[in-house]
Amino acid sequence: MKVVVSIGGSVLAPDLEPDRVRAYADVIEGLVANGHRVGVVVGGGTVARDYITTARELGANEMQLDQLGIDVTRLNAQLLIAAMGEMAAPTPPETYEDAGTAMHRGDVPVMGGVAPAQTTDAVSAVLAEYVNADLLVYATSVPGVFSADPNEDDDATKFTEMTPDELVDIIADIEMDAGSNAPVDLLAGKVIQRAGLRAIVLDGTDPDAVARAVDENDHDGTEILPVMADE
Ligand code: UTP
Repeated sequence: MKVVVSIGGSVLAPDLEPDRVRAYADVIEGLVANGHRVGVVVGGGTVARDYITTARELGANEMQLDQLGIDVTRLNAQLLIAAMGEMAAPTPPETYEDAGTAMHRGDVPVMGGVAPAQTTDAVSAVLAEYVNADLLVYATSVPGVFSADPNEDDDATKFTEMTPDELVDIIADIEMDAGSNAPVDLLAGKVIQRAGLRAIVLDGTDPDAVARAVDENDHDGTEILPVMADE
């Protein structure tokens, strides 16, 4: 299977603990050993947020802050590359074309961010679209997609399955609420929708959850299933 794994920075390197990064490298290695072709995208996590907060106070504009965020995602990507050794393309690809070429020759590309005004959620979805991935897995710090922001609304319930249209509607509602955090951002939802991608949003605190989701389709998260044309 061709898989894109999106690993949130707060999941991969919440405290720059090497064991967690190594555990993720082992999971990616296991997926490749099981015959999957894998692309990885890594987020910026708290380190990115801390840099952005400080730079904002120093007067940086949003574009500069995004660039700082991108730099941190690429630093996190390099941590995973270091742990993966030969299997990974040696530097984080800066374009989807380079990432796709790396996947095609059998390497695992580990990307960070690529352009301002978005997050790595969108990068992951675009990479999955570009390489015609069979599955896109979001390993995040939340257990799935909820009917509302669970931090804001006690009645929020987690979806087991949903369509891309439902995903986009839910994210749009959550993003309208200032301060609320969507499990994946709206641009990512739109790309999942237009590309008809199969995606799983799950709690990536335990890296093995990603392996189980890909190898056994066993997970406690939310699966986004495109509606087939003849349904
Ligand atoms: P993340 O993808 O980690 O953003 O990129 P996030 O969703 O805020 O973080 P998580 O998922 O909670 O860990 C960090 C920052 O880098 C910039 C944005 O400013 C983003 O907030 N970025 C990232 C870009 O501007 N473009 C990209 O392609 C990726």
